[in-house]
Amino acid sequence: MIEKTDNDVLKRSVSDHWEANAETWTKHVRAGYDIYRDALHTPAFLEMLPDIKGLNGLDVGCGEGANTRALARAGATMTGIDIAPTFVRHATEYEQQEPLSIRYQTADALHLPFDDAQFDFASAFMSMMDMPQQSDVLKEIFRVIKPQGFFQFTILHPCFVPPFRKTIRNESGKVTAVMVADYFANIDGNVETWWFSSLPQEEREQSKPFNIPRFHRTLSEWINMINAAGFILEASVEPMASEELAAQEDVVADTRVTPIAWIVRLRKPSS
Ligand SMILES: C[S@@+](CC[C@H](N)C(=O)[O-])C[C@H]1O[C@@H](n2cnc3c(N)ncnc32)[C@H](O)[C@@H]1O
Repeated sequence: MIEKTDNDVLKRSVSDHWEANAETWTKHVRAGYDIYRDALHTPAFLEMLPDIKGLNGLDVGCGEGANTRALARAGATMTGIDIAPTFVRHATEYEQQEPLSIRYQTADALHLPFDDAQFDFASAFMSMMDMPQQSDVLKEIFRVIKPQGFFQFTILHPCFVPPFRKTIRNESGKVTAVMVADYFANIDGNVETWWFSSLPQEEREQSKPFNIPRFHRTLSEWINMINAAGFILEASVEPMASEELAAQEDVVADTRVTPIAWIVRLRKPSS
């Protein structure tokens, strides 16, 4: 467990952990092993997104850039930032090979290197629950968005993916329930160790699992942090796999019982 009282230690640890994960993470997501992201969560995110053609957007915690590229393909001029330089290098190399006018930069979401009101919108795909001091990160994102701009983000669902979640299946393998625990545990930097569920055994033998510091907050804490930053909560989606998708990609079948992700869109008021 990471020292809770020293924010610099925490921040350094978060960037060190993600830097250590970045090479394998990039390889595995580009090989298609993040099935929740590719088959369910990103399509639901894009479906919920307002028209972004011609808008100037910031993707916070962009990783190797797959979702930043999805927003650029939807017509926005994108900037992506991430705390791990190796992710930024992979995203930049992709941009050089297949240009979409995306600018990438290594930066901490807590200290965004941008002027006030510079962006029409911001996005964050599965990164906010991996950051310490989310209340300050929300204020920082609020600062760089123009009045009337929006911030749409997705996180692990605060209620259904607390620090403990287990999928229960019957004898024939059908998902019948999901067990959760530790919803009220004050998790601030505990390191979770895992692979993508669909990673084949031979790949597991060749690669180390990810070590991810987790910053779990309850649903009420999220709503209160959102309000304290000055945002208005405008829309919310909890993606559920269709019957067809669950039959095709068994790994996402648990989302027919409870969601894994919470997607929200926040609006910055006009003044
Ligand atoms: C689960 S990955 C998601 C990556 C990408 N958004 C995607 O959807 O594929 C979380 C990302 O958040 C980044 N991250 C964590 N803390 C950060 C911080 N304080 N500032 C910027 N990025 C951060 C990590 O380096 C990592 O790339």
